[in-house]
Amino acid sequence: MITRVVRIGAVEDPESAFADAGRILRDGGLVVFPTETVYGLGADATNAEAVEGIYRCKGRPSDNPLIVHVASVEQAGTIALVTPETRKLMERFWPGPLTLVLPVLPGVPSIVTAGLPTVAVRMPDHEVALRLIRAAGKPVAAPSANRSTRPSPTDAQAVLEDMDGLVEMVIDAGPAALGVESTVVDATGPGLVLLRPGGVPVEIMEEFLGEAVATDASALEKRSPGTRHRHYAPSIPVVLMDPGELWKNEPAILEAGEMLAYMGMADPPGPVYSAVTFRSVEEYGRGLFQTLRLFERSGAKAVLAELPGETGLGRAIADRLRRASEKRR
Ligand code: TXA
Ligand code: MG
Repeated sequence: MITRVVRIGAVEDPESAFADAGRILRDGGLVVFPTETVYGLGADATNAEAVEGIYRCKGRPSDNPLIVHVASVEQAGTIALVTPETRKLMERFWPGPLTLVLPVLPGVPSIVTAGLPTVAVRMPDHEVALRLIRAAGKPVAAPSANRSTRPSPTDAQAVLEDMDGLVEMVIDAGPAALGVESTVVDATGPGLVLLRPGGVPVEIMEEFLGEAVATDASALEKRSPGTRHRHYAPSIPVVLMDPGELWKNEPAILEAGEMLAYMGMADPPGPVYSAVTFRSVEEYGRGLFQTLRLFERSGAKAVLAELPGETGLGRAIADRLRRASEKRR
């Protein structure tokens, strides 16, 4: 298959590009599209066969359910049960990087939810994503547009590294503004349970709710199937260091020798082959996955990554770094 890449801003008639993309989705095809978090690999969420294509293309285990992307609160109500409480959350945080796990309504193919009685729903804060969903006229199921276990793609180059020749179309709208995925919360119970830290900091949600969001680790393991799988890893080892730590003498670091790459907020703790320093936690979020892929391409033999402080967006970044550093199983 030849993947058509459409660069929004460069095409003269984006209207017809959106019409084509909408048609591809309605016909059961796959379209990669930008969101404010990372690029998504989209299919018509109401078409089981099309959604199967997502799992095939990513090499994703079928017990890991997908997020369904909608263009309005009303559209969310066509696939999930929306109570007055969840509507308040949507009105405060949508469009934006908050995914709500809600009771699923009949008609959503079980392949989308991996057979669970719930569905994850989000309205992305990106005009191109919203236009695509409207053009399709359907809710769009989409995981991050990377091959399973790889770092999430935050630009079209990363998308094409993993997906060229596997999807009908890639819509390129430049680098993602946030760079880390949405916060996923289970909203089926009386209180909220955090399933994955992400773009909306838990502190902000708690301030809005006036109550705590549960973040108990065992709930996390049990309730978010995706968190059990290996994730976000480049092909070279990633070694973590605490904020401000001076050096780390782990085998992977010693083996890498001069070919060690570093990223973090502080200056590198010693001489390295390649270093990327971020001046803010927001910059770290935007650059995290892109930098992992960059180091991998650069010939570095290992990555030393400084953890950010674990508040606000730092919590999501630390979560992704921990997963990227997990040893191969
Ligand atoms: O920012 C994002 O969320 C990006 C963009 C493309 O929207 N999407 C994304 O999708 O990160 P993905 O598939 O890489 O991660 C979805 C997460 C997984 O951890 C999955 O297990 C969880 O959401 N999830 C999906 N449906 C669920 C459900 N019904 N119950 C619990 N967790 C669910
Ligand atoms: Mg993903």
